[in-house]
Amino acid sequence: MQLIEELNVLTSEHNHALHGDENKTTTQDSFTGKNRKLYIESYGCQMNFADSEIVAAVMMENGYDTTSDFKQADVVFLNTCSIRDNAEQRIRARLKQINAIKREKPDMTVGVLGCMAERLKSKLLDEEKMVDIVAGPDSYRDIANLVGEAEDGNRAINVYLSREETYADITPIRLNSNGVNAFITIMRGCDNMCSFCVVPFTRGRERSRDAHSIVKEAQDLFDKGYREVMLLGQNVDSYKWENDSKTEKVNFAQLLEMVALVNPDLRIRFSTSHPKDITDEVIYTIKKYENICNYIHLPVQSGSSRILDLMNRTYTKEWYMNRIDSIRNILGADCGISTDIITGFCSETEEDHQETLSMMKYANYDYAYMFSYSERPNTPAAKKLVDNIPEVIKKRRHSEIMDLQNKISIERNQTDLNKIHKVLIEGYSKRSNDYFQGKTTHNKVVVFPKENYQKGQYVNVLVHECSKATLLGKILA
Ligand code: 5AD
Ligand code: SF4
Repeated sequence: MQLIEELNVLTSEHNHALHGDENKTTTQDSFTGKNRKLYIESYGCQMNFADSEIVAAVMMENGYDTTSDFKQADVVFLNTCSIRDNAEQRIRARLKQINAIKREKPDMTVGVLGCMAERLKSKLLDEEKMVDIVAGPDSYRDIANLVGEAEDGNRAINVYLSREETYADITPIRLNSNGVNAFITIMRGCDNMCSFCVVPFTRGRERSRDAHSIVKEAQDLFDKGYREVMLLGQNVDSYKWENDSKTEKVNFAQLLEMVALVNPDLRIRFSTSHPKDITDEVIYTIKKYENICNYIHLPVQSGSSRILDLMNRTYTKEWYMNRIDSIRNILGADCGISTDIITGFCSETEEDHQETLSMMKYANYDYAYMFSYSERPNTPAAKKLVDNIPEVIKKRRHSEIMDLQNKISIERNQTDLNKIHKVLIEGYSKRSNDYFQGKTTHNKVVVFPKENYQKGQYVNVLVHECSKATLLGKILA
């Protein structure tokens, strides 16, 4: 048992949350002979990590290599998240540290990118005085010009939100890449207006990227040796693209199929699905192609229809249960399902909370991202509702849902024991170079002795041990 406990610490566990504010990545060193150095630190969701790859591409075109040491950088960017208050607090603390270095190195240019830039706009330049550039998520084509402006001593800010920008023609520079997994952004923005959420304000209106540019990116990645792509959008089920002459229309199910056909050895994942929009057509498409992973992230937020209505989620508890039934009926009881839950939303009663707990049992989630409600300025909930659940109650309910989910996750993992799983090898496990880690189609992390295999290969692994987060197994010859 000791080994599996140690291995839990060393696997990346669940880094697939679209908005995990604990996530952070930095750039690695690149040496392509450019004379200036760029350092990017990315926070928050996968969309931000994918955006940093667009920013890196634009900057490399403009004479920059990346560095892993911000003290060596001419330009330091923080690509930021606003989803909860603690995400923003963490970035403010980091800005202070970076500024201590900047005082000794005044030529260094510091930029805040992403959601916090969009939310706070010029206030960041004035209030913090530590920031030279403020760049919202739709301004990255302009990012090198903004650096130039700041270096000339001007106020460098672009927080214009676009209705069209999808960066379809920019080939991302893969940062932190293992050469196996890559993100592909398929759409930007969100039109849903869930009452708690800041995203529609920081990322603007929803727009879908040209389907052919997505397929081309997937093909290019496959040709370079990548074996898994994650299609990203705030609400992938509402993906809708048509060509200029309107003779070709592609919905999400059709897009999934187009990407699946790139190569049967290219695995496809996607995030995030919305319960109101996920169709049986999408679920049948997942069933039809072995390389579309049997795993769906389907945020429920609450198990109470009254709270769901206040959240403006536009579905009821019964509707959500029906979507779970469809997934289980079409893809089988073992289909991986994860969720997001907000606890302590405005006016949430003990009964509402109990309904969330029973929904968790009904859905039998493999994993859940669980958050205490954090009121965000200017959202519909901040304007119309009162954040009236005391912090101690939020905390207690949060730990109750965490305890329940831990129990369910272990039970779910136990059903994988003594079974053979097809695993895509992603690289060494974090603690030992004698072990590899990879994922099953259901998005479970599996750790196993590496033997003579290579990352990027598919192997059949017999699982013999598990914890709440990891499976442990052995490759079958
Ligand atoms: N407070 C707490 N959690 C939030 N989320 C979004 N906004 C808030 C907020 N104001 C959670 C939701 C969403 C996930 C990405 O983050 O569960 O699905
Ligand atoms: Fe926010 Fe709702 Fe859009 Fe998700 S679907 S980004 S929670 S508004």
